[in-house]
Amino acid sequence: MRVIIKPDYETVSKWVANYVVYHINKFRPTPERLFVLGLPTGGTPIGMYKELINLYQKRKVSFENVATFNMDEYIGLPPSNPQSYRFFMEENFFKHVNLKPQNIHMLNGLTKDYEKECRNYEKAIKDLGGVNLFIGGVGEDGHIAFNEPFSSLRSRTRVKTLTESTRQANARFFENNIEKVPTTAITVGVGTIMDSAEVLIMITGENKAEALQHAIEGNISHVWTVSALQMHPHGLIVCDKDATKKLSSETVAYFMDIEKNNF
Ligand code: GLP
Repeated sequence: MRVIIKPDYETVSKWVANYVVYHINKFRPTPERLFVLGLPTGGTPIGMYKELINLYQKRKVSFENVATFNMDEYIGLPPSNPQSYRFFMEENFFKHVNLKPQNIHMLNGLTKDYEKECRNYEKAIKDLGGVNLFIGGVGEDGHIAFNEPFSSLRSRTRVKTLTESTRQANARFFENNIEKVPTTAITVGVGTIMDSAEVLIMITGENKAEALQHAIEGNISHVWTVSALQMHPHGLIVCDKDATKKLSSETVAYFMDIEKNNF
């Protein structure tokens, strides 16, 4: 696993955006061979999306031949609801860049047939040759996408019941009212994410320090689903200094040293 430690949220956001652009350009995508990008929502990736839009406006990247798959969606919220992940993605990214609508994939939280929706999502990823780069964030309890503690580390796209702590953490987007946060979501599985050629997880802020510690120094465990990244051949964590507060000084020194001359 690689761990990149940056001084603050802004430098993490810029580093990740540049990394995404570098990978898209290196891949030289065409209409027949799309670059497949997995995307998250939440507070953490907002800075990355801003920087991606900035790089797009400066013509450093084109999303014309990029396909996207978002990680998850709340059940019961229509795309017109500002708290839906669809709305979030439109506002923070999609409407600002040249992605083709047919290349944008998001789970439908209003579907009548959840099993079919999940099956089709997995198939759509497979049909495009798999995800080249999956970007994610992490919950305070170490969940990736909506794979709450004790999710199978081999799980696939499915419906999950959200824990009270996740609903509490996300209540800030719902007028601080936990009652307004949906109780279920449709989400890619840990196994779905881990099948990607590369997985990059952004972890920022002191409130994520425990999650980062379990991700790097802890055992691989379904309690902290982000720890599955330890099994990935190309797992990458990009974090800020605040998030490293619970890591041992040896761990921090090791990664600072080994990554000092890298991208
Ligand atoms: C939600 C999302 C996750 C995200 C997490 C943390 O639970 N399903 O994908 O990583 O929130 O969000 P934030 O970045 O706002 O802390």
